[in-house]
Parts: sequence; C-alpha cells; structure tokens
Amino acid sequence: MKEVGIGKNKSIRINMTQQTYTTSYMAYTSVQEMPEHYQTLIEQAKIATNDSHAPYSNFKVGAAILLNNGTVIKGSNQENASYPIGFCAERTALSAAASLASYEKIKAIAITAKSANNPVLKPAAPCGICRQCIFEAENKHHQDIEVILTGESGEVFVFKSIKDLLPLHFDANFL
Ligand code: THU
Repeated sequence: MKEVGIGKNKSIRINMTQQTYTTSYMAYTSVQEMPEHYQTLIEQAKIATNDSHAPYSNFKVGAAILLNNGTVIKGSNQENASYPIGFCAERTALSAAASLASYEKIKAIAITAKSANNPVLKPAAPCGICRQCIFEAENKHHQDIEVILTGESGEVFVFKSIKDLLPLHFDANFL
C-alpha cells in the first residue's frame, strides 16, 4: 500500500509494490582466460563475422551455435539496401541450425561483433527480436541455451539461459 499525492492536501492509497529483477552471469576479463571449449566457440563466431554483409552499418556480427552432437553452425548479419529487411547474425545461425539439424538440441550460442567505425570493446548484446528467437529455440528443444557474449576484445559474459536476458518472456502459455 502506498500513499500517493494527487493535488493540494489530497492523497489516495494505491495497492502496489516495487518488484526487482536480478540477473546472474559469469564475467570473464578476457577470452584467453576462459575454458578451452568457450574459446573454440567464440573463435567460430569471430570467423563468422567475415561472412557478414554489412555495407550500411559497418557493424559485423557473428554467431556460432553449438549443437548437443558437437556440430557448430555459424551465422552472420546480412543487411539489405532496404534496411528493415536485414537479418541479424543470431537469427541467421538459428535458421541454419533449424534447417540443417532441426531435431538436434542447441547447447550454446556465442555472439561477437566488430566494427569499422568504433572498436567493439564490450560484449555484443543481442537485440530484443533475437533474444525472443533464442528463447523460442530453448522452448522448442526443452533445453536451456548458454549465451556467450563478446566484443572484439575485453570482457566476455556467459549466461546460463536466454531467460536471464529476457525477463517477462512471452511464450506459448499466453496463447
Ligand atoms: N545485429 C545483429 O546481427 N544482431 C543483433 O543482435 C544486433 C544487431 C546487426 C543488425 C545490423 O546488420 C547491424 O547489426 C547494426 O544494427
């Protein structure tokens, strides 16, 4: 219960409480100090940036998906002169994984970016649409997907599940 002022000497009582989200993740100071399997996947994401088509933003994003069977599937952002049509790297990689190995569960996705404008010195964060798509893949396979975020250099963040990056997620239970 909270007393809220609504004008001169007037107030009303409103039933509301303040809620807080907390997110927990691992932060490594650099790729080099991570366990080897992370380094390998991040390396694949970095290689994927070379396939990026980003003549408009000069922001090249790479994603590498690790499947349960050990296969790695890469994706990169593909821009278009009609800007809104462009694909993000994460969704390109997810589509490739769904097409090439639709029944194989996804263990992890590493995401990285490099830019011709400014060096990316902090972990590249997936956009909202990509978060929702990674969440859909978690639900499809009934398995959490580890999300590894890195820039050109500097810190690397590891989230156990995309849910940690997508509070109040929208899923089929609403439908
Ligand atoms: N981009 C991605 O590939 N993934 C994201 O999660 C964020 C943004 C791309 C889209 C566009 O080609 C460029 O980065 C600049 O927004």
